[in-house]
Amino acid sequence: FNVPVPTNEPVYSYAPGTKERELLQAAIAEARAQEVDVPMYIGGKEIRTDKLGKLTPPHDHKHVLGQYHQGSKSHVTDAINAALAAKADWENLPWEQRAAIFLKAAELASSKYRYKLNAATMLGQSKNPYQAEIDSACEFTDFLRFNVAYMTEIYAQQPPANSKGVWNRVEQRPLEGFVFALTPFNFTAIAGNLPSCVAMMGNVVVWKPSNTQIYSANVLMQIFKEAGLPDGVINLIYVSGPDAGDVIFKHPDFAGIHFTGSTGVFQDIWKTIGQNIHQYKTYPRIVGETGGKDFILAHPSADINVLNTALVRGAFEYQGQKCSAASRAYVPASLWNELKGLMEKDIKSFKIGGTEDFSNFINAVIDEKAFDKITSYIDKAKSSKDAEVVIGGEYDKSTGYFIHPTVILAKTPDYETLSEELFGPVLTIYVYDDNKWEETLKLVDQTSIYALTGSIISQDRYAIDQATNALRNAAGNFYINDKCTGAVVGQQPFGGARGSGTNDKAGSMINLLRWVSPRTIKETF
Ligand code: ALA
Repeated sequence: FNVPVPTNEPVYSYAPGTKERELLQAAIAEARAQEVDVPMYIGGKEIRTDKLGKLTPPHDHKHVLGQYHQGSKSHVTDAINAALAAKADWENLPWEQRAAIFLKAAELASSKYRYKLNAATMLGQSKNPYQAEIDSACEFTDFLRFNVAYMTEIYAQQPPANSKGVWNRVEQRPLEGFVFALTPFNFTAIAGNLPSCVAMMGNVVVWKPSNTQIYSANVLMQIFKEAGLPDGVINLIYVSGPDAGDVIFKHPDFAGIHFTGSTGVFQDIWKTIGQNIHQYKTYPRIVGETGGKDFILAHPSADINVLNTALVRGAFEYQGQKCSAASRAYVPASLWNELKGLMEKDIKSFKIGGTEDFSNFINAVIDEKAFDKITSYIDKAKSSKDAEVVIGGEYDKSTGYFIHPTVILAKTPDYETLSEELFGPVLTIYVYDDNKWEETLKLVDQTSIYALTGSIISQDRYAIDQATNALRNAAGNFYINDKCTGAVVGQQPFGGARGSGTNDKAGSMINLLRWVSPRTIKETF
């Protein structure tokens, strides 16, 4: 098929003196100067209610960015009905027309809306300009462009063989019903990808974003609309989880869920779907990317500077709020003292504050609930006999939810922050005896309840090979001599197994195949 060959959107640096920096600063100033009124979008209509929620920057929680209109169960029903009403026309539209809409959305996200979308992510989710750029402008655009190409590969799959007098075909039908997209706060790109890649394959969608991502979700919806997405194909609602679940998981036309969020919520959803299984017309597709407790394992041969960079970037970029973030590390005793010095020096150089000052590397965590949870673990470590806070440990929520990058030294391999997901700027390090490398490999595998990302840092090829084999099932994305974050669409398909999800690799043909239900047709002459 003749579709544009996808390439990754170039990342702007926003260095001082650049035109891009000025344009982004202007977009931020414009967003801060006006309060937005964010409606839900059902059947293409803007829906407003008298139940309002407040939108505030996590790093400046007294400033109001705007308000959003919250819905109830009846809005969930309306969204499902609007989706089902749009279904026949949408699925009968030739795939080229669907592709064109999403290619136009990619163009809008990376050009006309680039600064507005980045500014929304910076203000609403407290990402620094570079983190916002690689997420909103680039990764979202990449998802759209690469998925269009993967879609065409699915439609162009090798046809089945034929025998004399027979013509066999396989038709890639959309799912029968509607799909629910439940999206997280931490990547605007993921929030945009989960509903759009499902819709691309001819499906209709009810989309519920996290309450803490509504500000940029509104911009994503403007992009989809301006790109020409027909009314009702993606319906965006802001309702509570229980209200959404009560209606959606009991509906006979529920055909699947595309989820990114916590392991606990995903498991509850899976159970609910199981309990209601007899009510559905078809077995729903369950696709989810959930938690992580991602590791960096250093071998005694590790290059200490590579290790230090992998740790500070992997653990602290975007305040550790990436499902891929390095939140535990295993370091040989021979490297620990020097490593600690290097980490301390780097961490002390990080400026902390609001996103509007581009020199701040660390911004706020997403909300008060996250702040309280993360700091409670820091406090426990401060008073535990089994752990020690060796770097950072300070926090303050008076103006924004700021937590300093924190390193906990665990004195036992089963200390709680080596296995529990905190989703914040906290790295726990366990120092192992250099002679216990093989035991440590086993330890890392056995303690990987989650299996999303992981890294081995080593200059010894034998050790790299050992780790690659021993940790085969401990990470869906495995990195050698690099940090465990920053998967690029089209380059490192992303997803994990065990407690981390169904491993349907975001931005891949594997994922798109979950959103079609093939029909085999045999015609005899
Ligand atoms: N895809 C994101 C990363 O790899 C989550 O960091």
